Amino acid sequence: MKPDIELKSSKIYIKNGIISEAGMLIKSEYPDAKVLIVSDYTVAGLYLEALKESLDVSSVPYDTMLFNDGEKTKTLSNIEALCEKAADNEMNRGDVILALGGGVIGDLAGFAAAVFLRGIKFIALPTTLLAQVDSSVGGKTGVNLKQGKNLVGSFYKADHVLIDPETLKTLNDREFQCGMAEVIKYGCIWDDELFARLESLKTRAVVMSQIKSIVKTCCEIKAEIVCQDEYDRSLRMILNFGHTIGHAIENTIGYGEISHGQAVAIGMVKITKGAEKKGLTEVGTAERIEQLLKQFGLATEMEGYDRAKIMRAIVIDKKNIGKHMNLILLKHIGQAEIIIMSSREMEAYL
Ligand SMILES: NC(=O)c1ccc[n+]([C@@H]2O[C@H](COP(=O)([O-])OP(=O)(O)OC[C@H]3O[C@@H](n4cnc5c(N)ncnc54)[C@H](O)[C@@H]3O)[C@@H](O)[C@H]2O)c1
Ligand SMILES: [Zn+2]
Repeated sequence: MKPDIELKSSKIYIKNGIISEAGMLIKSEYPDAKVLIVSDYTVAGLYLEALKESLDVSSVPYDTMLFNDGEKTKTLSNIEALCEKAADNEMNRGDVILALGGGVIGDLAGFAAAVFLRGIKFIALPTTLLAQVDSSVGGKTGVNLKQGKNLVGSFYKADHVLIDPETLKTLNDREFQCGMAEVIKYGCIWDDELFARLESLKTRAVVMSQIKSIVKTCCEIKAEIVCQDEYDRSLRMILNFGHTIGHAIENTIGYGEISHGQAVAIGMVKITKGAEKKGLTEVGTAERIEQLLKQFGLATEMEGYDRAKIMRAIVIDKKNIGKHMNLILLKHIGQAEIIIMSSREMEAYL
């Protein structure tokens, strides 16, 4: 099978029904490999049977480990449990950990693959829109500590990413919207044509009729950015557009109370309004972003928004080392810019 996108050693395939080809692909790439499937109960209920059947048909041996859904699953103790499961199965470096699920399962299983035996094969089969366009591409893996999200992890790209857009049909609206916020983000920071195309797609159903090419465009953009800056030192930071304020909102309201995409949506609009006032962003940009987010059911403002609280949360965010921070702004739709400023200057954008 020919990959649709290659990001260094990582091969990305986008195809409806690719779950049922997973066994064939693994058999041809790693003929003697055993597979440890990692998933959550919800996703397993929907797609595990199809995956198992595909592995059975190609005579690929496997074991399965399932976790509860949600962010609380991203812990070091679950990494230990996964590594012990791999050890019980006498897995070696040629064997495969396969993540079947959203970003939570991808981050957890990817980190286990990175550290078990100092690295074994890793295949991602992302099933949420966010995971298909964002978390499964680019190699960030990791888990949370009680002090904060994603504080322990590694850069470890999946050898193969198998994206099956058909799995998005079973996502609830909240998760679909959450992913759409990231899709819109790519239009904002990189691709005005994608942005304009999204403006013409009025409903989830219409988006779904073109989902394969939309997911592909987003993966190409992420691959291009990551290829230029694998370790998040410069260009890759533009992927954080809307995220400084977004993370601060998630932090102050409480993770899970508001979806990540919803918080980022508010962040993108706030920062762009601030930057327009400062004359740094083309006038009318915030309005277009706001309209597009609303089109997909995302709110663009929040009740009880407290600037001082948001500012405090931003200053303690791990990414804002020292007094200066990187703020991602748009020059206009399709072009982002990284501005370094002091936390005092930053306040004017909130
Ligand atoms: N590594 C990265 O670069 C990166 C980037 C962005 C986000 N993330 C991480 O991703 C995580 C969020 O990922 P997420 O938004 O995919 O959440 P998630 O993995 O928690 O999935 C959301 C919910 O959708 C369910 N689900 C998954 N696929 C489904 C399907 N096809 N049909 C029905 N239900 C389905 C899951 O069971 C879960 O309840 C966070 O932990 C975040 O830190 C990582
Ligand atoms: Zn995000």
